[in-house]
Order: sequence, then structure tokens, then C-alpha cells
Amino acid sequence: MTYSHVLGTGAYTPSRILTNHDLERIIDTSSDWIVERTGIRERRIAADHEATSDMAAEAARRALLMAQTEPAALDMIIVGTISPDMPMPSCAVLVQAKLGATRAFAFDLSAACAGSLYALSIADQFIRSGSAKRVLVIGAEILSRVVDWSDRSSCILFGDGAGALLLGPTPDPSRGLLCAHLHSDGGGAGLLSIPGGGSRHPPSPEVLAKNMHKIAMNGREVYKFALRVLPEALLESLAAHGLKPGAIDHVISHQANARIVESVVQRLGIAREKCWLNIERYGNTSSASLPISLDEANRAGKLKKGDLIAMMAIGAGMAWGSALLRW
Ligand code: COA
Repeated sequence: MTYSHVLGTGAYTPSRILTNHDLERIIDTSSDWIVERTGIRERRIAADHEATSDMAAEAARRALLMAQTEPAALDMIIVGTISPDMPMPSCAVLVQAKLGATRAFAFDLSAACAGSLYALSIADQFIRSGSAKRVLVIGAEILSRVVDWSDRSSCILFGDGAGALLLGPTPDPSRGLLCAHLHSDGGGAGLLSIPGGGSRHPPSPEVLAKNMHKIAMNGREVYKFALRVLPEALLESLAAHGLKPGAIDHVISHQANARIVESVVQRLGIAREKCWLNIERYGNTSSASLPISLDEANRAGKLKKGDLIAMMAIGAGMAWGSALLRW
């Protein structure tokens, strides 16, 4: 039997910082309100010349460097994103070309903030089946270009960034990705969406005038949904391996709002100190959030061989899930 484990991690965040105080000058808000409700103090904003594939490729280069793997060794590249460079071709093929990963097939995955968790699970299936040996899983977003900067209830949340994981096979069943459990509920599609710009409402002067090409969110309902499903999702992965929350060494989670992560772990009796929280510095970077967090914890030397990492993510769809990773 073959299992997949993480060979390298990488992240890229743009250098421009937009603080809460900067936002106070654009919209009717206060830094204290944002910190209290979300835990966010600042977020990164891509430079004008940067596109999502540029950031994704940079995060991927860093993961490949850590793993001392040449791009030509890659079999497959998955980019979780809802803010690709363009509707087609995929962001992933642009990354493939930038890296020179000539052998890899590449595609995007649309599961919003759960994108990299979904991608991780798919990569794992290809590796377990023996169909792929080196797979790049990337989450990359330039949300600053799809955020409605006139909507104070949503624009304060989001930021730009990219994270990447390189997965490869191991014969050791006690290492790597133990399991992933994915869920969707399209009944919640209206809670968080970019309603315009696709086939339902093609680009038009009306779509632009009504800001329908920007993120629209019912924050309170998304919050309640997340708190309902995320604890269940984590328990589902733990139960699949006969484990209890006390077995978890680290929580590496998508960070939509610090309060969501803190409430979930509190409900399960997991110490807050076990969560790698960086939302204070980056805001919600959607699919990039989970791989950026894993890379930061990894480079900080926090992850020890044998540690149990619990992952969870939730995003528009609604789409959510959990995974367990033995480092
Ligand atoms: N600054 C100041 N006041 C704000 C504000 C802002 N940026 N945004 C909203 N408010 C106001 C509202 O107008 C409202 O005022 P009112 O009571 O006079 O009507 C008040 O604050 C409370 O609004 P509410 O939406 O209930 O706040 P909240 O506590 O739910 O926090 C979010 C709002 C968006 C921070 C929170 O709901 C959230 O994080 N939800 C999850 C969103 C998410 O994670 N999305 C991504 C999923 S991947």
C-alpha cells in the first residue's frame, strides 16, 4: 500500500500591507471593531503587476526547493483558487509553464476557501493509486481584486497570498495524510458568492454598476454555518482513526475569522495554543490560508516527526472538510 506525505512546503505573500487603520480611511469602520470581531490587524495586497499564477508559482518554487525536487519531476499540479488570472485557461497551466513542469498535467479546483483541502485529498488519491508520484497542491488568491471595497462587512476580511505543498509517496502507513473528509451543501450557495461575470449574469455594464462581479456575503449566516459543521468534520476524521481531540498536536486550519477557529477548538476541548493562527497578519486568504499556515509552522520548526496535525477548512458553496496529517 502507498500513502502520501508532505515533501516540502512553500508560501508567498505580497509585500504591500493594508492595515486596519488604512481601511479606516476608505470605509466607515474602526480597527478595534475589526480586531474584536475577526482577529485581523492587516492583510497583504498584490502589486498591480502581480497575477494569481505569479504568486502560486513563487510559493511552488519554495516548496520544490525545500524538497530538492526539480519541476520536471512533477506529475500533477492542482491550484485551488476562485481568483485565477482569467476564466480560461486554468491558473494551474500558467503555473506549470512558469515552473517548466513539462511532464505535469495541471488543473484548477473551485472549492473557495476549502480549495486546498479538497486539492490535498485529490492529490492523495492519485498518489495512493500509484497514478502520480510528485504532486503540487497550491492554494492561491488575489481576493483584493474581487472584494467589494464599498462593503465594510466583507472587505475587511480578505487578503492576497499563495501557499504550496509537494506531496509524494511513502510505504509507511503511520506517516503523511491519514484521511480527509469532504462535504458540500449547495443549498448555501447564496451565503457567499460572486454572483456576476459567469454564465448566469455575463459581464455587462449592469453587472459592473451593481458590483455583481464582487464578493457578496451574509457574514452572520456563514459564521453560524461554520460553527455548526466544522467541529463535526474534525470529529469525523478523528473517529475514522479511533482518535480523540486530545491526540491532536497542531490545528492547521483555514482562517476565515480567528473567532471561528477558537470556538471550534474550544468546543472540542483542544488548547488554543495548538492552533497556528496568522490571520492577524494576512486576513482571510481563502484557499491559500491553510498551506501558508502549514508552511509557517513547518519553517518555524514547530512540526516534529510523528506529530498529529488536524486540518479543517470551510468556504463558499458551502464547501468544507477536515483531514489528519501525521508529520
Ligand atoms: N466596521 C464597523 N461596523 C461594522 C462593520 C465594519 N467593518 N461591518 C459590519 N458592521 C456593523 C454592522 O452594520 C452591524 O451594525 P448594526 O448592528 O447597527 O446593524 C454590526 O456591525 C454587527 O454586524 P454583524 O454582521 O452582525 O457582525 P458580526 O459580529 O457577525 O461580524 C463578520 C461580521 C463578517 C466579521 C462575521 O459575521 C464573520 O466573520 N462571519 C464569517 C465570514 C467568513 O468567515 N467568511 C468567509 C468564509 S470562508
